[in-house]
Amino acid sequence: MKNILITGGAGFIGSHLVRLMVKKYPDYQIINLDALTYAGNLANLKEIEQYPNYKFEKADICDFPTIQSLFEKYQVDGVIHLAAESHVDRSIKDPFSFARTNVMGTLNMLQAAKLAWKGNYIGKVFYHVSTDEVYGALQSGMELFTEQTKYDPHSPYSASKASSDHFVRAYHDTYGLPVKISNCSNNYGSYQFPEKLIPLFINNIRHNKPLPVYGKGENVRDWLYVDDHARAIDLIFHQGKIGDTYNIGGFNEWKNIDLIKLLIKVTDRLLGRPEGTSDHLLTFVADRAGHDLRYAIDSTKLKNELGWMPSLQFQEGIEKTVKWYLDNQTWLDEVTSGEYQCYYEKMYGKM
Ligand code: NAD
Ligand code: DAU
Repeated sequence: MKNILITGGAGFIGSHLVRLMVKKYPDYQIINLDALTYAGNLANLKEIEQYPNYKFEKADICDFPTIQSLFEKYQVDGVIHLAAESHVDRSIKDPFSFARTNVMGTLNMLQAAKLAWKGNYIGKVFYHVSTDEVYGALQSGMELFTEQTKYDPHSPYSASKASSDHFVRAYHDTYGLPVKISNCSNNYGSYQFPEKLIPLFINNIRHNKPLPVYGKGENVRDWLYVDDHARAIDLIFHQGKIGDTYNIGGFNEWKNIDLIKLLIKVTDRLLGRPEGTSDHLLTFVADRAGHDLRYAIDSTKLKNELGWMPSLQFQEGIEKTVKWYLDNQTWLDEVTSGEYQCYYEKMYGKM
């Protein structure tokens, strides 16, 4: 029996990871710790909420006494830490909440693990899930981010994630905490909050609303199917080296404007609309401040050392993703209306 604490498990990537771990490891107790901010949605976990090896705890990673008591209550063996503020545009409007959650919250988690484990680190792991944005921006060309690329964050979001990564390494180097870090590229797939490019644009196409393309749409992102990220996390958590960093990415770069045109084409087709119906929705708007030009991840280390490979071709992944959002319009409507925030009360009663 192992007790694994996953933070941020009601969010996009976290919910995919929790589903995977709960089903794959019936002999683990999976504790999902989430504050249920606007980005946390327990409806994402309906499929596994009745499993006997799944527990949910509504808690804020910035609340140190509560975090400490949960380490004690569950005798935690491993942590997979995903809880974070994750949207770049929000970080530009409100950088302080990103420093609070991503930096101070991570520091709380590290300190709670250190105090709970009391230097007895056998069988213990603290795995921190981070982003490729800490490496800054690449120019167009062939260069990729490797695990050796120097940190050079530009947005308040990436600065807060970079800072949290540094704290994680500091706890390893200073106190010997058994940490692992991964830095992943842009994820896409089901259950992503519709403020991020792909679900936002699918939803807007469905409602004939404008598609706000930042700048000229020339920025490049490297897209990975979310279940491939969750599989990579599982692999690194179990087999990755203590103290190491792993880059995760699909070698799948897309210029925003090309991706958006593909989304319009696939969504129109799946809605039964003639090709070109939604082209007029494309709207070029002011660029995001400090908009990083290009991200591209080299995940050779993960492939060579742990044998991980992305499982899906992008065209297939996009087709599945668009179909999921169109088939799950209630999920989208509940998220956009705010109805999803009542799910906790329905499930667990009033706090
Ligand atoms: P998300 O915004 O969908 O989910 C974040 C979750 O964390 C939510 O459930 C939210 O309720 C919870 N949370 C936020 N603040 C909290 C707090 N103070 N205490 C407890 N819980 C809190 O995020 P995501 O896209 O699933 O990203 C998860 C992690 O992966 C983040 O650390 C992010 O930096 C990283 N990441 C994301 C991507 C991506 O493309 N989405 C890529 C690489 C890395
Ligand atoms: O690279 C990993 C990161 O990917 C994660 O760490 C972040 O948590 C995640 O949000 C994502 O960050 P991005 O800023 O790249 O994702 P977003 O979906 O917000 O935007 C993708 C690209 O699309 C980016 O170049 C900005 C652009 N964009 C986005 C939105 C929301 C638009 O042109 N219009 C939009 O309305």
